[in-house]
Amino acid sequence: MAMEILESLDITAWQGPFSPEIVAKAADALETGKLLYAPQLPFELLEDERQFLSPECLDGKSKNVSFRPDSGVMKGTRCQGVERDRLLNMLQRYYTLASDLLDGLCPGYSQHLRPGFTSFRPAEIAGRVTSWRHDDTRLHVDAFPSRPMQGLRILRVFTNVNPRMPRVWRVGEKFEQAAAHFLPGIKSPRPWTASLLYWLRIAKGRRTEYDHYMLGIHDHMKADQQYQSQVSQMQLAIPPGTTWACFTDSVSHAALSGQFAFEQTFYLPVSGMKDPARSPLRVLERLVGRALT
Ligand code: SIN
Ligand code: FE
Repeated sequence: MAMEILESLDITAWQGPFSPEIVAKAADALETGKLLYAPQLPFELLEDERQFLSPECLDGKSKNVSFRPDSGVMKGTRCQGVERDRLLNMLQRYYTLASDLLDGLCPGYSQHLRPGFTSFRPAEIAGRVTSWRHDDTRLHVDAFPSRPMQGLRILRVFTNVNPRMPRVWRVGEKFEQAAAHFLPGIKSPRPWTASLLYWLRIAKGRRTEYDHYMLGIHDHMKADQQYQSQVSQMQLAIPPGTTWACFTDSVSHAALSGQFAFEQTFYLPVSGMKDPARSPLRVLERLVGRALT
């Protein structure tokens, strides 16, 4: 069963070139809703970065330290001075390696990928108190009210840097099934909502019908306790020193426990996919029978 959801990669370096066999299967694995899993790909911390393996480096409000590769802005930390420079350098290094990795594995994506945030996650997931909507221990596909994707794919690379403990994920059914399950229960968007949200600057960009349905699936899935417990799913205890990647807008995922991970977000236009028909945008458009952006 684990074999069906994981595409294991026999690689030990972040930079390619990788073998043609690996390159031939990487994009297909991602686009069909699998996790690329590199069990021998750690992110090595430098001696003077080990101090950051503590929630102490957070600012007390944020659960992650976030870095924007395009502007160089880092947020979420109380570190200052030399410490701050070190922390920033660590996140920047992860961004560079994650970019190298995708360039090597999915060369067809390279010219289309745009970086989103780099995040360092030093807080323990288990036992965190949140509203159900923000509770990522419940299965969900990624969709954010303030950040309309307008069809753009969300591709994320993760590395577990915990010295001992796994990061425990659950992965649910394929997007086609989840979408078909929840779509009938999601009301059509009210025509003025998108413009109003944009006008009030609640959303950074126009919320398209695509965003409306993705948020609907995110919310309905998280709120449905019966679905959460009964949908076909598997639990993965992802060991320390490993790296994985998936399209988190289509892979139903939940992070149950774990501490100390890195995550790099990339955005990929549907047109940059090997097969755009496999995007959530096209899947939803087939289900509702009209264009959604
Ligand atoms: C999430 O995207 O839901 C959280 C993943 C993680 O931090 O492992
Ligand atoms: Fe998520």
